[in-house]
Amino acid sequence: MTDDLVLDVRDVKKSYEGLEVLKGIGFGLRRGETKVLVGPSGSGKSTLLRCINHLTPPDEGRIFLSGEEVLEKNIDAMRARIGFVFQDFNLFSHLTVLDNVRICQVKVKGVAADVATERAQQELERVGLGDKASAYPAELSGGQQQRVSIARALAMDPDVLLFDEPTSALDPELTGEVVRVMQKLASDGMTMVVVTHEMSFARQAADELIFMENGYIIEQGPPQQLFSSAANDRTRAFLNVIAEHG
Ligand SMILES: Nc1ncnc2c1ncn2[C@@H]1O[C@H](COP(=O)(O)OP(=O)(O)OP(=O)(O)O)[C@@H](O)[C@H]1O
Ligand SMILES: [Mg+2]
Repeated sequence: MTDDLVLDVRDVKKSYEGLEVLKGIGFGLRRGETKVLVGPSGSGKSTLLRCINHLTPPDEGRIFLSGEEVLEKNIDAMRARIGFVFQDFNLFSHLTVLDNVRICQVKVKGVAADVATERAQQELERVGLGDKASAYPAELSGGQQQRVSIARALAMDPDVLLFDEPTSALDPELTGEVVRVMQKLASDGMTMVVVTHEMSFARQAADELIFMENGYIIEQGPPQQLFSSAANDRTRAFLNVIAEHG
């Protein structure tokens, strides 16, 4: 069973200055699965994503990517296989859109310049921005910038894509275009963990919804099941609130 897990997170713990933020988190992700992670502010969602690729090294626990353990000594190679899409895009402002999508392929993977260019163009087309290759990030809307950052992650051919609230910095009218790209990736079989309050995405694209609170996974299951009959009171209360406001 474990062999077909793309991502296998086992009993991860993390404290900041004595405050235990992750108290033993474990979950697995099979190839092609999408899991949506929700929970109150401060419950540890971002810390968990950051522990997966050691942007924040975990204190305890183990993480395996396609069967291989993520460790400090192999972290550069592992990070190249773990795509990360941040809330605030993190594009290089002095590079064109095309170069933003090319640069990691060339610098990190050593891909030949012309191959990287072609791949970058393909990924830009996949996110609907084939005509923006020569623009600079500041010339794009937030939704377009976020789609560039998704294209950049895709161009690395990652084993898994991690999204940390990819639409929460966007005006409401721009979230749809990003959510649609993510839905398409999920249905194309990309393996993804998505922290988001976009419950339309969770309903349509998630194989499983994970509810985290206070450093623990409280409940997980198919989104329809959690929306209609969560076992835990706090899961139910939280999902009701984000269904109304999120
Ligand atoms: N670098 C840090 N140093 C100290 N404490 C931190 C650090 N990063 C996060 N924390 C604390 O860890 C806890 C979990 O934070 P985290 O950002 O993982 O929560 P979250 O679930 O992503 O919240 P949000 O929904 O607001 O993004 C919070 O109490 C936060 O204050
Ligand atoms: Mg967060």
